[in-house]
Amino acid sequence: MTIIPATAAAIKQAALLLQTGQLVAFPTETVYGLGGDATNDRAVAAIFATKSRPSFNPLIIHLPDAASAAPLVHFDAAARRLAEKFWPGPLTLVLPRRPDSPVSLLASAGLDSIAIRVPAHPVALALLQAAGRPVAAPSANPSGQVSPTTARHVADGFDGGLTMILDGGPCRVGVESTVLDLTTTPPRLLRPGGITREALEAELGPVALPDASELGAPRSPGMLASHYAPALPVRLDAIGAGPGEALLGFGPAAGASLNLSPEADLTEAAANLFAMLRALDRPPFQAIAVMPIPDHGLGAAINDRLRRAAAPRG
Ligand code: TXA
Ligand code: MG
Repeated sequence: MTIIPATAAAIKQAALLLQTGQLVAFPTETVYGLGGDATNDRAVAAIFATKSRPSFNPLIIHLPDAASAAPLVHFDAAARRLAEKFWPGPLTLVLPRRPDSPVSLLASAGLDSIAIRVPAHPVALALLQAAGRPVAAPSANPSGQVSPTTARHVADGFDGGLTMILDGGPCRVGVESTVLDLTTTPPRLLRPGGITREALEAELGPVALPDASELGAPRSPGMLASHYAPALPVRLDAIGAGPGEALLGFGPAAGASLNLSPEADLTEAAANLFAMLRALDRPPFQAIAVMPIPDHGLGAAINDRLRRAAAPRG
């Protein structure tokens, strides 16, 4: 059995695995991550291979605290301010790489920037502390598929092929971190996520969105059109289920197969999103129809994931 409850002893064992170049899946507040030593090229290469992830799609580097960022990136005043406000938490900052940064170039796909974050999960923080090195961790799912919000989801994706999955229960936030590029003026929101654009703008002033022209050749490859995709086709803005369709509801919804949040609470909907997409992604259903979700606050991240889940498959 590779799923192990995240006891202190298990976390210590996981840290040793990371230190010897092996991979460990671990919980964060957003989704489960597939972690490897970010300073070890072979460990980083193993992450890409295990996920079948295109090597042009860079990884997020996880740290136990903001102070650990100093040797990796140029941590400017805006970064300090955001870190103070939102870390630990679901915000990833893209910052200029220091020339002497120990992070593997493969982890950042050869870019001159590095994406970093401090996750708000006690197991993740204990693991990062014990490992004593930056940990590269994409979501712990095969590339392009639905992200995992439980240890069981992780195991299902890799057919027992992982050495260790630390089980810390279901993820509280349920959608990935917000990715904010601080190398440009104004800063740009590369991926909507657990910290809303509204909350960032309250701290920073205007935050730009990527241009549509970048979506084909993305600056942040998480912007790839088809991503987060279940096996079944997904139809958006449904008012009801057609023949053979599962209906994923939001708010009051008669006849919903599952409901993201009967009370129309976006936080609850984000936490349920990936688990419910997985639960409906099977016979007797032939497609998944999803009711409209308001596009403000966390709804922006939910709709981003749903649009990619519904996009034509590559
Ligand atoms: O919530 C999360 O962020 C989760 C947990 C495990 O921390 N991780 C996650 O990783 O979602 P991943 O690999 O699935 O998504 C990383 C995103 C991608 O969109 C990637 O393109 C972007 O971050 N990214 C990483 N490094 C970047 C960089 N240097 N410049 C621009 N985008 C970058
Ligand atoms: Mg991912």
